[in-house]
Amino acid sequence: MASIPLDPAHGGHAHDDHHDHHPTGLKRWLTTTNHKDIGTMYLWFSFTMFIVGGIMAMIIRAELFQPGLQIVKPEFFNQLTSLHGLIMVFGAIMPAFVGFANWMLPLQLGAPDMAFARMNNWSFWMLPPAAILLISSMFVPGGSVAAGWTMYPPLTVQQGYGMDLTIFAVHILGASSIMGSINIITTILNLRAPGMTLMKMPMFAWTWLITAFLLIATMPVLAGAITMILTDRHFGTTFFNAAGGGDPVMYQHIFWFFGHPEVYIIALPAFGVVSQVIPAFSRKKLFGYPSMVYATASIAILSLIVWAHHMFTVGMPVAGQLYFMFATMLIAVPTGVKVFNWVATMWRGSITLETPMLFALGFLFLFTLGGFTGIVVALSPVDVQIHDTYYVVAHFHYVMVAGALFSAFAAVYYWGPKWTGWMYEEKLGKIHFWWSLIAFNIAFFPQHFLGLAGMPRRIPDYNQQFTEWNQVSSIGAFLFGTAQIFFLIIVIRMIKGKSGVRAPAKPWDGAEGLEWTVPSPAPYHTFETPPVVK
Ligand code: CU
Repeated sequence: MASIPLDPAHGGHAHDDHHDHHPTGLKRWLTTTNHKDIGTMYLWFSFTMFIVGGIMAMIIRAELFQPGLQIVKPEFFNQLTSLHGLIMVFGAIMPAFVGFANWMLPLQLGAPDMAFARMNNWSFWMLPPAAILLISSMFVPGGSVAAGWTMYPPLTVQQGYGMDLTIFAVHILGASSIMGSINIITTILNLRAPGMTLMKMPMFAWTWLITAFLLIATMPVLAGAITMILTDRHFGTTFFNAAGGGDPVMYQHIFWFFGHPEVYIIALPAFGVVSQVIPAFSRKKLFGYPSMVYATASIAILSLIVWAHHMFTVGMPVAGQLYFMFATMLIAVPTGVKVFNWVATMWRGSITLETPMLFALGFLFLFTLGGFTGIVVALSPVDVQIHDTYYVVAHFHYVMVAGALFSAFAAVYYWGPKWTGWMYEEKLGKIHFWWSLIAFNIAFFPQHFLGLAGMPRRIPDYNQQFTEWNQVSSIGAFLFGTAQIFFLIIVIRMIKGKSGVRAPAKPWDGAEGLEWTVPSPAPYHTFETPPVVK
């Protein structure tokens, strides 16, 4: 850089002293283009939504503690289950992994920042208004969406104005996701440091690259589906109304063309985290790296051609049922490759069981269990029996909570010391793990029994014979909820440095391998000084 002349009008300071100021407080967070700041905001937003969605889950489990109607009215109960799903999927899990991507991708790739640093700011700041819309939809006349997170017509076409707020919120959340995906793809394809070839990237970067393509392929489809609901509601169309020549089942096809890949949009970055944590704590390189990359891509492609396994009971032809059943079971092959590789990575490794590894192992065990029940529900003759029962609820909570959430915990404990500069308190982390693991299983394992016994999902009341397992499930859920308040305390204590142990340059005994490929490069910058990209 050329030398900068002193400016006597400003007390002799060099020009760049003035321009390189660091805004503080609200202005800093509103205008930041720094990927670390934005990653931090994503993570706090995600945790806030996790608490909001979690409170809804607690009310649901309190209502279901015994048969009869105790706490909430049935109409409100329906809104709770619907919003719990929407908030956890779009507000909690997805932003958590975008937060990890913001924090880690530039560091892992040797990039100065995300490729579109200003758009990055915008993608984040779209989220709070969407969350406010979604939550406030509960308080308008008629209430919020009450047809489940899947928003099936005809109910969503007939409902009150809360549904319009929900549609608008989901549009905004989808737009934010698409912008984030464009940013991630461009960063990975254009901003890697010299020598960082695609096949040398850490697995987290690979899983996010593939996830971002999946998001761009499917988010507009969801947007189309809910826009058709909107025009059916207000502009006289009959896309989903048989009386006007439409078909409500068509909505299910369109929705699940998005909805099934959405499962992998959530799961693939979780796989990426686990693929980095397990090698670090086994002191071995990831086993079968290329096959991990190909398996991830195969899962993404297969996820686009299995959607109607959610619809076996709509009356589709047997040939259709057979196709969607077998195509779905094909996904077990690349998923099996991944599980094999994770286990083979640990084989004869020198394993230590710090909290990130515990959560990764919890993920491995319980996500695989959720995968097995996935094969059960993929069998169309079986699914016809257990469709819309608590068995399905149990299945996808093993995938979403023990899968995505546990790996998000692993990521916070694994990367947190790097972010905050302080180690977390290991004993507290381990308590959080065992508390969560046991409570999770108490909450969700009995739901398999309830489902097999015929208890339907999305109901505020049930027959007497379901009482005991519902009480067990509710107790587990309350325990799981309180464990996450404990997690918040652990994180705050880490940020404040309560452990008294500074995080070393390589917190995990130098065993992290590909983890931090470059020293943290990003200088502070805001809208005034976007990153210089060659
Ligand atoms: Cu599916």
